[in-house]
Amino acid sequence: MDLDHPLLVLDPTAADPHAEARRLRQLGACVPVELQQGVRAWITNDEATGRAAFTHPALVKGVENWRAYREGEIRQDWPLMALVAGETMVNRDGADHTRLRNPLNAAFTRRPIRTYAGRIEEIAHGLLDDLAGQPAGSVTDLKAGFTFPLPMAVICHLLGIDDPDMRDRFGDEIATILRSTATPQEVGAAFGAVMELLDRLVSQKESRPADDLATRLLQSHRDGELTRAELVDSILILVVAGHETTVNLLANAVRAVLNHPEQLALVRDGSYGWSDVVQETLRQDPPVQRIFLRFAREDVPLGGALVRAGDPVIVGMTGAGRDTDVHPDADRFDITRKQSGTPIHFGLGAHYCLGAPLARVEAEIALTALFERFPDIELADPAPPRILSHIMNSVRTLPVRLVPA
Ligand code: HEM
Repeated sequence: MDLDHPLLVLDPTAADPHAEARRLRQLGACVPVELQQGVRAWITNDEATGRAAFTHPALVKGVENWRAYREGEIRQDWPLMALVAGETMVNRDGADHTRLRNPLNAAFTRRPIRTYAGRIEEIAHGLLDDLAGQPAGSVTDLKAGFTFPLPMAVICHLLGIDDPDMRDRFGDEIATILRSTATPQEVGAAFGAVMELLDRLVSQKESRPADDLATRLLQSHRDGELTRAELVDSILILVVAGHETTVNLLANAVRAVLNHPEQLALVRDGSYGWSDVVQETLRQDPPVQRIFLRFAREDVPLGGALVRAGDPVIVGMTGAGRDTDVHPDADRFDITRKQSGTPIHFGLGAHYCLGAPLARVEAEIALTALFERFPDIELADPAPPRILSHIMNSVRTLPVRLVPA
């Protein structure tokens, strides 16, 4: 096997990402695939190989290690270019990566995150108050009214973005950037709009510094630790990495428990907690289906394949979560299952998700509040249309019937 002979063309419009992951796993633990515009990459399809990809020292993030990119074969308008070539920690290695991650590390450990709990609860209840005003039994899109605005409000609170218009525009433009079916023109326009918004934010913080993450990053820029471009991209990566991931986690968790009332009953009677629901959702229906891209700095044997120096690697998260060698009866949603070893839902190694403690706290608070306020919530559509994306794994809408407690 080599990259010149892709085994499958990845379909961003696939209706069932789990079926696609299963098909890939049957082909091998690490196989060559093709994406839009003929771009080729390896994809890992089980948990052990995903783990190896996250931690292998010769699989690195710097786009300059991508042979096809260096040789000008990748068009600048390739829809995922902004994600793999941005000036952010997620695309850097070694000391450069540490320098970009350092200014934010302390803010995302468990202790400071716990101090945000009160504000997250307020945001959640504020959104649920609005939903409670609707006629009992009417159908509501829970994604539009709760799971989408909540993480955006939280990350904006952390960053110090208090203008609601700016917050809404961030959400919309970033969703366009992450939609794999968006045209290059749409992605380019959304990217331009986001950059303008970020410039405006930085100017605001220059004139009115506050106790928030945007001001902290601005201070690192003034101390000479970050360039201006890195400052802007560091804010951007928090919104990109922190928003839609958490939206999907919430939407997938709500859908899972409503489709499995016997599991919800275990949370209600106190035998299990919302943290168990979050953990099982991350495995069984992960918010992110694939992690783009790592590049081989030298030839790397991976999952029975030989990844050549300069080749890109995608880590398949849906494939890892449903790996039957590690998770018996892997398709089944079961909050009582014992998961062995460190889970890989938030990555591993140097690039381990900065926001993992925030995502968990946020999801637990949001789910607690939702089911307290609407204990009899029902799905109005058990299988709503999916997001069409190579990256994200969730639904476009989440129609529910809400009956206040
Ligand atoms: C990295 C998943 C929420 C910020 C990652 C990685 C994964 C991940 C798998 C590793 C990427 C790689 O190795 O290439 C998730 C999931 C989330 C979530 C499933 C929600 C359920 C968040 C939140 C934030 C965040 C809430 C911040 C507010 C980041 C950042 C990185 C990252 C900055 C890059 C870290 C680095 O390169 O050092 N995330 N994430 N994530 N995540 Fe998350």
